Amino acid sequence: MEDILRGINVAPSILSADFSRLGDDVEAVLNAGARVIHIDVMDGHFVPNITIGPLVVKALQPLVHGAGALLDVHLMIERPEQYVPQFAAAGADMIVVHQEVCTHLHRVLAQIRESGALAGVSLNPATPIETLAEARYSCDMVLIMSVNPGFGGQSFIPTSTDKIARTRAYLPDNVAIEVDGGVTEINAGALVAAGANWLVAGSSVFGGPDIEERFRAVAQAAASGV
Ligand code: DX5
Ligand code: ZN
Repeated sequence: MEDILRGINVAPSILSADFSRLGDDVEAVLNAGARVIHIDVMDGHFVPNITIGPLVVKALQPLVHGAGALLDVHLMIERPEQYVPQFAAAGADMIVVHQEVCTHLHRVLAQIRESGALAGVSLNPATPIETLAEARYSCDMVLIMSVNPGFGGQSFIPTSTDKIARTRAYLPDNVAIEVDGGVTEINAGALVAAGANWLVAGSSVFGGPDIEERFRAVAQAAASGV
């Protein structure tokens, strides 16, 4: 788990997959070399959209873990502490909560780690990294949102690259950085160069035919930023 956490990884977001053949689409990216599968959980409150819950994580768990890959669960929900046990039991390896909804962020991060998963904190585009002045010592990863959360297929917010560079300087060395939203083969290299090591990619991987080829293109672009 540690080597995947520290390595450069493109994490396909199943939000843009074909849900009528979800297993096949996930198998395609695993075959192409994906070692992190990103799962977007939305509640219709914190974000306008509603997506999926622990049942889907549980259904994908044998396939993903069988390939030696991790399940990265991005909770865009209010009161995430109520659902951490269910997602951990379903097989989540990384559970990411939003800083904006956690009054007791330190407690939630400890709860995630006690459940056996790695603990991540996500920041919306308008949330300053300085809100992590204390929590940066209690998490395994920080997720920088490079779009406003809620939907796949949005355009990358250009100021996010500089925010990632500032985040890298602000965090302890052992805390990983994930970037989520509008990642493509065009910007992936620059995002890695700025300090991100997990790059979520939804529509750029699942948004057209030949998923394996699209995954490899983004992964190669990411590797060029090292
Ligand atoms: C957005 C989600 C993202 C989304 C990314 O709220 O958190 O993970 O799936 O999709 P793309 O890569 O298409 O911007
Ligand atoms: Zn996400």
